Amino acid sequence: MSQFNIRVLKPKDWPLYKQIRLASLQESPDAFGLTYQQALLLPDADWASLLNSTSDGALSLPLVVDMNQEMVALAWGLIPANKDVAHIYQMWVAPKARGKGIAIALLDELKAWALAKQCKSLQLSVTTTNSAAVGLYHRYGFQAASKQQALQPDSALVVQSMQLPLNHAA
Ligand SMILES: CC(C)(COP(=O)(O)OP(=O)(O)OC[C@H]1O[C@@H](n2cnc3c(N)ncnc32)[C@H](O)[C@@H]1OP(=O)(O)O)[C@@H](O)C(=O)NCCC(=O)NCCS
Repeated sequence: MSQFNIRVLKPKDWPLYKQIRLASLQESPDAFGLTYQQALLLPDADWASLLNSTSDGALSLPLVVDMNQEMVALAWGLIPANKDVAHIYQMWVAPKARGKGIAIALLDELKAWALAKQCKSLQLSVTTTNSAAVGLYHRYGFQAASKQQALQPDSALVVQSMQLPLNHAA
């Protein structure tokens, strides 16, 4: 059985974050609103500031997964200021690490965090043709919300909002 370890990225980890985020955008261009080419243009100060604690009161939980001393997955939780909804962004598992339960483990971690922060639901967006991700979120209990929009301004791909109500009594 493959062992993997989830950890929270610290501000000093921004070069690692940049590395895995760029890898994810290059490998899965249809899964994300930001393109690899757009991300390549970002100055390092922008990558670093993403990992610095936000001044606007939002809460972030940037997670990566290590397996065999290699970073193989990323997911980012964000709770906007004064909101009770936790958003999940940037979910990506490297092809070599897929099918081992890593995405489910990341969702478990983000769900526990959102519950601890008293959130009422988890929300995310997924490209409707991305059957692996849609299957993952359905299996986890997410349900499609009505909102749909283009993945990128000039893209024919459509992203669907999905949400998971959080049960604080459980
Ligand atoms: C979608 C993705 C995150 C799944 O990661 P993973 O670690 O392989 O997923 P897990 O091993 O935790 O699988 C959990 C469940 O997801 C579903 N799933 C995962 N891969 C699947 C596939 N290729 N086809 C159908 N269902 C799939 C299954 O229900 C699976 O449960 P099961 O193994 O008991 O059947 C991964 O394929 C990925 O990074 N894809 C590219 C980027 C992406 O699409 N990100 C999502 C952006 S919204």
